[in-house]
Amino acid sequence: MIWKEKYKIGIPTIDKQHEELFNRVADFVQAIRQEGRWEEKIEKVKDTMVFLQEYVVTHFDYEEQYQQTLGYPDCEEHHNIHEAFKADIQSAAKEFADAGYHEQAVQILAGRLLAWLINHVVATDHKMAQYVTEQGLKI
Ligand SMILES: [Fe+2]
Repeated sequence: MIWKEKYKIGIPTIDKQHEELFNRVADFVQAIRQEGRWEEKIEKVKDTMVFLQEYVVTHFDYEEQYQQTLGYPDCEEHHNIHEAFKADIQSAAKEFADAGYHEQAVQILAGRLLAWLINHVVATDHKMAQYVTEQGLKI
């Protein structure tokens, strides 16, 4: 299990969404790294790319709307970080589909995904939660 208590930022709905995201990505990483023929894992890769493109967008939208409600001063910067990540996923999905889901390319993305998510939650999302606490805002 990749999800850890320490990744919680203290905003329950967002923490739940992060947990779901982490679990899906961890499950994906585990599936593509286990023994077995690569061809049998391609379905999982396709499913995960679809999931990411849908769930990540929903989650980012939620976070951004939440920040608007708070009047969070760094919301534009946060939005840009989200946009860059969405673009990265989208171009990877297209590249995989065009090139036929090469194992090495997928493995590289999987590692990057996990690292990005952890880093984003503990740094950027945590900063948003800190603002809520500092301002004494209601979660
Ligand atoms: Fe975020």
